[in-house]
Amino acid sequence: MRLCIVGYPLGHTLSPVVYNRYFRSLGISARYGTVEISPERFETVIGRILREYDGFNVTIPFKERILDHVEVQNEARIIRAVNCVFRNQGYNTDWIGFVKSLEDVDVSEPILVLGAGGAARAVLYGLCKMGMKHVILVNRTFNRAARLAESFRKLGLPLEVYDLSKLRQLLPRVKSLINTTSVGLKGDIFSIEPHDLSHLHLVYDVVYGETPLQQRAKGVGVVHVIGGEEMLRLQAVENLRIWGLLEDEEVFKRVFEEVTR
Ligand code: ATR
Repeated sequence: MRLCIVGYPLGHTLSPVVYNRYFRSLGISARYGTVEISPERFETVIGRILREYDGFNVTIPFKERILDHVEVQNEARIIRAVNCVFRNQGYNTDWIGFVKSLEDVDVSEPILVLGAGGAARAVLYGLCKMGMKHVILVNRTFNRAARLAESFRKLGLPLEVYDLSKLRQLLPRVKSLINTTSVGLKGDIFSIEPHDLSHLHLVYDVVYGETPLQQRAKGVGVVHVIGGEEMLRLQAVENLRIWGLLEDEEVFKRVFEEVTR
């Protein structure tokens, strides 16, 4: 089976190493490559990729643009982002990775979600599926968050929406913080001080790797501090399931941990 990841830039991606090592460990005849497409060439090249590959992952910045080129499955249509393709069908597995990563965590509300992009939509959809009811959405661009809130209200998830400047005022009101922005709270971009986090039960950062946000949360004793690795691993498990290649989840977990450690 021919598989790949489509995105730009792809210099940092560990996906080929993880998937190929997993395939080799189990003697699965599949190959996973990388296809870097510059944004201006996406529409020209995507048809050929759909013909040449059985399945692929889609990452930044194409998760929305791919919607016009595949048959979009229900959840991906609502989230408006596709990250996994199999034989012209487009799926979203990010939200499943998010929900599964919280299976053993008692998520306390209110929850503050930072960001209003594709990752935020997958997280909000997941929170909706988890039956959460008290979510506050904060974004740099207020209108983008307000539009998002409108569509999630229709799905039964009422959202309060605020501008990023209100973040520190809002933190004392919530028990969980989920950062979906790529910023990773570097330095003092969101001007959060460690004591703003000390009362929280959960700090979840969808950004891969240990960020200053996670370090600060750990430093003040937040019980559950979760980085993007679990969501990444668990969405990959769902991709393998869709491609019909999930032969041994434990082996995949071991390989993933070896490669990303
Ligand atoms: P993704 O699909 O990974 O979510 P995205 O759609 O580009 O990526 O969304 C990125 C999110 O990070 C957005 O919420 C964005 O805020 P805006 O809607 O105002 O653009 C947020 N973001 C990115 N850079 C930021 C920064 N320097 N400060 C604050 N928010 C930022």
